[in-house]
Amino acid sequence: MVDYCPMTILPAAAGYKAGDVLVLVGELFGRGYANGLLEEAKRLGMTVLGTTVGRRNSDGTLRPLTAEELAEAEALLGSRIINIPLEAGFDMESPNGAPSVAERLKKAKPDEWESISFEPGFLEQACAAGTARFCANLQQVMTELERLIPASANIILAHTMAGGIPRARFFMPLLNRVFKGSGDKYLPSEPFWNSAIGQLCDASFNEVTADTFKYLIDASAGLRKRAEQAGSRVACTAYGYHGTGILVNGSYQWQSYTPYLQGFAKMRLEDHAVAARKQGINATVFNCPEILTNSSALFLGVELSLYPLLTALQQVAPEQAVPLTERCKALLADGCSLESLMTTAADYLGAPLINDALEFKSWPQHSTREQMELMLATSAKLMEMHRDQKQLICAELSRLVFRSTGRLMVQASWSSTEAAVWLNHDTIAALVTDQRGADLLD
Ligand SMILES: NC(=O)c1ccc[n+]([C@@H]2O[C@H](COP(=O)([O-])OP(=O)(O)OC[C@H]3O[C@@H](n4cnc5c(N)ncnc54)[C@H](O)[C@@H]3O)[C@@H](O)[C@H]2O)c1
Repeated sequence: MVDYCPMTILPAAAGYKAGDVLVLVGELFGRGYANGLLEEAKRLGMTVLGTTVGRRNSDGTLRPLTAEELAEAEALLGSRIINIPLEAGFDMESPNGAPSVAERLKKAKPDEWESISFEPGFLEQACAAGTARFCANLQQVMTELERLIPASANIILAHTMAGGIPRARFFMPLLNRVFKGSGDKYLPSEPFWNSAIGQLCDASFNEVTADTFKYLIDASAGLRKRAEQAGSRVACTAYGYHGTGILVNGSYQWQSYTPYLQGFAKMRLEDHAVAARKQGINATVFNCPEILTNSSALFLGVELSLYPLLTALQQVAPEQAVPLTERCKALLADGCSLESLMTTAADYLGAPLINDALEFKSWPQHSTREQMELMLATSAKLMEMHRDQKQLICAELSRLVFRSTGRLMVQASWSSTEAAVWLNHDTIAALVTDQRGADLLD
């Protein structure tokens, strides 16, 4: 396991310039983290190249985007997309004609989750087939990159992929119980994780969230070789999550969200960066704060640790934080004050039930009923303090976080020396109160 290594000094200015290239390895979604990388690359005048997960036909075949889908995706990205499907994972694979995971789970009922199993070797074979497909397509993407990018250009290969929940209807009610269940609906994460279904998720998360980074590092050897000869640089970055340093009880400390079952895969992601560093490759996992995106929508309560970012900013830069504070106030329901909202979040984060249970070394921790119920009740209470639950203070703060982390990641990738770095709330506060990030508070 890597040591906790927060970014305490803002990175020196990167040397990226027009003609250098940011490659997003993972499709861009409207409010996703990758928007921050995109914004920073464009600010520096870099060229952006996107990729796609591709789409599945109704018969299950993976295909590139149609002309219409491609035009839409390129319009969202504002740049060209290499139209080779980079979907990772193995839920749709039929090794030697055996029914796929998705087919097998089609008729499964959520309350039968404990009795589901797979014959020995099946998951390994399905996984190997998924890996082979992904790596073959990734190789084609790399060939295309070598064609499109001159050897003299500096390149950031930015891995943004995370996921791997197998596509079967049966998972949603089950995972809702694990991640959002209280009372009778509560399902502790530990027995779930230790079941055959949990182990399927483990293998699938590892493949999509972690091992795709290793495949990317391996497949980009040709780009690095060219760069070495031409005197240019290639950096590999990935988004991690391994807890965040936030304000709790008046001082900054590491904390996390429970149960974060993807955490096992996120640690494996860090291990891949460690292994790459040992070979002299510039690969860094940037562990980022919890924010609201398409991917985090499943996890109610993940957003609670975001609220104290506003307090952090108000403390470091009271004047600069005024416009953001006003925007947040405008989202509150009548009769609700920002102070009471912040106090509710702070009380939760500082509560012994939550705070004392967390430990970096034993992360990711499994859930307990009391912790889940306090988390879900606090999350609901804070949501209710908004005028419109579709316009959240956490969305406002999320935007600031993805923009700030994007800037930090691009700048740091130039000469990064660590396999894993934490971008904490104090790092973000330091950036936006420095001239290098003052515009981010706009
Ligand atoms: N949202 C958070 O709170 C948070 C916190 C820390 C780190 N992160 C990380 O940031 C990164 C981006 O996530 P996000 O939260 O912006 O959400 P997002 O939904 O915008 O991005 C998820 C990405 O994963 C890709 N993906 C999903 N399933 C895939 C599959 N089977 N094969 C290939 N690609 C697949 C998507 O195409 C997309 O690029 C992820 O690595 C995520 O773990 C998120």
